[in-house]
Amino acid sequence: MPRIAYVNGAYTPIEDASVHIEDRGYQFADGVYEVVLFVGGRFWDLDGHLKRWARSLAELEIRAPMSEGALRIVIGKLIEKNRLKDCMIYMQATRGAAPRNHPFPPAGTEPALVMTAKPIDLEKLNAKASKGVSVITAPDIRWGRVDIKTVGLLPNCLAKEQAARAGAAEAWLVRDGKVTEGSSSNAWIVDDEGALITHPLGNEILGGITRQTAIACAESLQMKVVERAFTVDEALKAKEAFITSAMNLVTPVVAIDGRKIGDGAPGPVATRLRAAYVERCAAA
Ligand code: PDD
Repeated sequence: MPRIAYVNGAYTPIEDASVHIEDRGYQFADGVYEVVLFVGGRFWDLDGHLKRWARSLAELEIRAPMSEGALRIVIGKLIEKNRLKDCMIYMQATRGAAPRNHPFPPAGTEPALVMTAKPIDLEKLNAKASKGVSVITAPDIRWGRVDIKTVGLLPNCLAKEQAARAGAAEAWLVRDGKVTEGSSSNAWIVDDEGALITHPLGNEILGGITRQTAIACAESLQMKVVERAFTVDEALKAKEAFITSAMNLVTPVVAIDGRKIGDGAPGPVATRLRAAYVERCAAA
């Protein structure tokens, strides 16, 4: 069965789908995106992702291509047309197509909206989490508004490639000696007292939706969460470390820059938090 994409009002086989060569997303990375999971017939954290989508668009003054209600209908239809069960939805909106010129295009330029759906193998994701992943550290060379989920991800891609070449799953980005976040996930450590530490919200990290739900899960498990920046050194000495993102859920980190974290196996805090996160999303 061909994969079907949604492109500006039409559902089209992916190989036939196309966007304008003067789309501002293509030329200037002038667009935003979201990644949402659909598992066991339910969307995980869809409200949060749609809220951040609206915020990202508003921050960049990109007109919403459609209402939230319409967006929900398109997402549902896309899953149906692709006959998917467990999958991830990728949605991207750009400021639209116009002759290349840095200032915003004329008012009335239609924003472009593209969506794809891809099957996911939850068992494979769970197997990855039960082994834990390695991360490397890399300088955070991104711009000053990474709280906006833009498609401008070149520094993230460079860092992720560096991680892949080192046989690691993620790169933790470091600014002024502190870990901001991963190249496509939020970064966490667990200290000696069992407190969960993650970088505070602000312009230096993407406010992860999984991060937000994980905080709620941690609190319901009576775990202490401290939102503050931590150093690479603290991370190396941490009892546990883990990452959160729509695709990783909560995934334990067992090594940083080739050095074992804790005893080099997924720790009890990350493991419990993952279970609580899955339970919460599956029941929502
Ligand atoms: N990435 N930080 C960055 C830089 C990210 O790109 C992401 C998500 C996150 C976690 O956000 P959330 O919990 O809302 O998924 C944090 C997506 C999954 C991606 O680019 O594929």
